[in-house]
Amino acid sequence: MRWLVMSGFMLLSWFACVGSPAYAGGQPPQPPRQPNGLALTPPMGWNSWNHFGCNIDERTIRAAADAMASSGMKDAGYQYVVIDDCWHGPRDAEGNITADAGRFPSGIKALADYIHSKGLKFGIYSDAGSKTCAGRPGSRGHEYQDARTYASWGVDYLKYDWCNTGTQDGESSYTLMSDALRATGRPIVFSQCDWGSNKDWLWAQNVGDLWRTTGDIYDGWESRAGRQNGMTNIVDMQAELAHYAGPGHWNDPDMLEIGNGGMSNEEYKSQFSLWAEMAAPLMAGNDLAHMSAETRVILTNREVIAVDQDALGVQGQRVFKDGDHEVWSKPLKGGGRAVVLFNRGAQASRIAADWDMLGYPRGVAMRVRDLWQHKDLPRASGSFAAEVPSHGVVMVRIDN
Ligand code: GLA
Repeated sequence: MRWLVMSGFMLLSWFACVGSPAYAGGQPPQPPRQPNGLALTPPMGWNSWNHFGCNIDERTIRAAADAMASSGMKDAGYQYVVIDDCWHGPRDAEGNITADAGRFPSGIKALADYIHSKGLKFGIYSDAGSKTCAGRPGSRGHEYQDARTYASWGVDYLKYDWCNTGTQDGESSYTLMSDALRATGRPIVFSQCDWGSNKDWLWAQNVGDLWRTTGDIYDGWESRAGRQNGMTNIVDMQAELAHYAGPGHWNDPDMLEIGNGGMSNEEYKSQFSLWAEMAAPLMAGNDLAHMSAETRVILTNREVIAVDQDALGVQGQRVFKDGDHEVWSKPLKGGGRAVVLFNRGAQASRIAADWDMLGYPRGVAMRVRDLWQHKDLPRASGSFAAEVPSHGVVMVRIDN
């Protein structure tokens, strides 16, 4: 009883104290952090890493921007041209980061201007630690300075890595850079890249706009010795995190490998469909300037992109699994569902999505549209079934 009275008294004094304008007791409680209002749908663009690695220069990046603008990708919604690791030179005498003068002789500002002149946006890469993953200067201790430099160059997107961070705390390191970007006054999408090490989905909703959930993807169907994160392994890791995603805060299962040559076109169609189904950022990772017609057709499938970019911003979930056969469902604005029938097996197989799995009453007849064949199928009642190729998908939109 005495304890109750005491704690009641303490609570009252806390309210009185915090509520008073003259509050002077250490750190006052902070107002809740607000989202930055960016990336209300998953970001779309291209990033240099998956195809070029460290082998980049201003010609490569300009060529990617040219191709994005001329190939139909820009018209299909791709926006950000992001230079990944290895653009950096040393810091100057004042600690300002500079570009590698051999690779980027015209400087980063000129490159950003070029990309903007194509009606595209420009992204860059840094690291929360002392060095980037490829050993270039990281932003630790220079966060506000680097953010100001990026803003002065016209950066619209920052991918922020997690190598060489020692004992740094994830949440405070990412919050520091998020604050630094906001302080510039320039809208800059903040892409956290710590491979899920800090469980960003638990705290980063109003810190970053997207966060990596896994280690680096490799261009293969599934893991093999030394390479853990094949495309399907990443799908499995990402599937668990669906309810943490939403407008302005997306789970990022890493970039697309479509067109890089390690998987078949059927498998690449699966990656594209599943990434859209999971409301993942769609960052192409191939050589845009030299892509095949098949690759371009996959990357610019507007009906699949519309699923990714749906305004409701819900990450689709696996609603059925029987061995190699899966059904995924993503609720869409207006009450429809994007449904992926996914066949991981070695043989073509028939897979059925029952209305129960999708949350529709059994009896209703629904419209079905095939998003790869681009055609309306007959209305279906109770379920929709199709023959699905090995390692492939059938992706449909189901509406009332
Ligand atoms: C990490 C990231 C990759 C890429 C490289 C660059 O591995 O996860 O996406 O940025 O660093 O060194």
